[in-house]
Amino acid sequence: MSERQSALEVETAVEEASQAGTSRFVRACLRLPVDRTPVWFLRQAGRYMPEYMAVRKQHTLLEICRTPEVAAEVTITAAERLGVDAAIIFADLLLPLTPMGVDFEFVAGEGPQVHTPVRTLAQVEALETGRVDELSYVAHSIERVAKHFAAPRADGDRLGIIGFCGAPFTLASYMIEGGSSRNYVDTKKMMYASGVPGAAESRAWPLLMEKLVEVLAAYAQQQVEAGADVIQIFDSWAGVLSVPDYREFCLGPTTDLVERVRRLGVPVIYFGVETASLLPAMRETGADVIGLDWRTPLAEGWKAVGPGCAVQGNLDPIALFAPEAVIRARVAEVLQQAGGRDGHIFNLGHGIVPGTPVENVIKVVGWVKEMSQR
Ligand code: CP3
Repeated sequence: MSERQSALEVETAVEEASQAGTSRFVRACLRLPVDRTPVWFLRQAGRYMPEYMAVRKQHTLLEICRTPEVAAEVTITAAERLGVDAAIIFADLLLPLTPMGVDFEFVAGEGPQVHTPVRTLAQVEALETGRVDELSYVAHSIERVAKHFAAPRADGDRLGIIGFCGAPFTLASYMIEGGSSRNYVDTKKMMYASGVPGAAESRAWPLLMEKLVEVLAAYAQQQVEAGADVIQIFDSWAGVLSVPDYREFCLGPTTDLVERVRRLGVPVIYFGVETASLLPAMRETGADVIGLDWRTPLAEGWKAVGPGCAVQGNLDPIALFAPEAVIRARVAEVLQQAGGRDGHIFNLGHGIVPGTPVENVIKVVGWVKEMSQR
């Protein structure tokens, strides 16, 4: 099969799969006309929400993720409380580390900690790729959520169900740094070592990328088979890379992952933070939708992404702490920047943070619905 032919088949598969449903969220991902702009929020189920905190009192974060009844309940409660158009499955970016043989925990107040960071070729060679089935609890959570939202809502629209995984770079950065990082020194050391062909450690980075893509593609497949309508790929920390480094070390494996997920017949949303300079390169991955952070006005970000691609964003999550009139004006501004063009999904430029007033989030949903009616 020629490359062109296979690309065409992926396009057709994605469109057919999504025409079948009547979800305005999925239609917007494909730049099809919608009755109004769909809206959902990054981290819509989380610590700002009392319902989540009540569940969190009974279970650790990982217990919630690994117990489908509970993860599904948290996902559904948040989506229904807010009245959004899509539900993102409650899980965490780091879950695939476990079946690869990398142990980690969430330490209160400090975020994720990997017990033995992966920094050598020998450690990369030891990573496992054949245990992805151990993540099936996420697929089971999705099955429950999909069943719950199978019927159309009062307005005739079916809620979109979002599965997700990390991008190879962002996930690799957690494995290598051992947690959150400021300068990504060890990650970049491994990346740069691959620029010296024949050097002892030059194979570590490409092999790590290859293994991550294999695991993430299989993980995304489980989620799609369980009922995810769309897969969002989080490259949260790609913004620490220069454009040439992103192109040399990350674009290839990310494109490979995006292609493999789109072949499953679902649209892909590709999201990162502080990505203004990376947007044209991110678009080259072939993702259907690019997530925009709040630093660049949406129209400018969309222009950088280029025509023929949808965008998601991009209200500053901290604007949700502003007085009502200010939030309303900012919502209007984002919608005005989108200009009613097909292919805009309203969201924040990054996740909702703890302490955000839930009632403000709900108001934003109402305003998007009201202001974006076609
Ligand atoms: O509704 C939702 O979006 C929640 C589901 C979700 C979680 N993590 C649950 C979670 C999603 C989509 C994620 C993705 C995730 N996890 C990302 C990418 C998204 C982004 O914000 O860019 C990243 C980088 C992670 C890794 C991670 N998980 C970190 C760095 C932390 C600690 C952050 C902190 O402020 O403590 C987590 C913990 C985490 N994952 C929480 C939640 C609700 C909060 C901790 C808790 O409930 O104990």
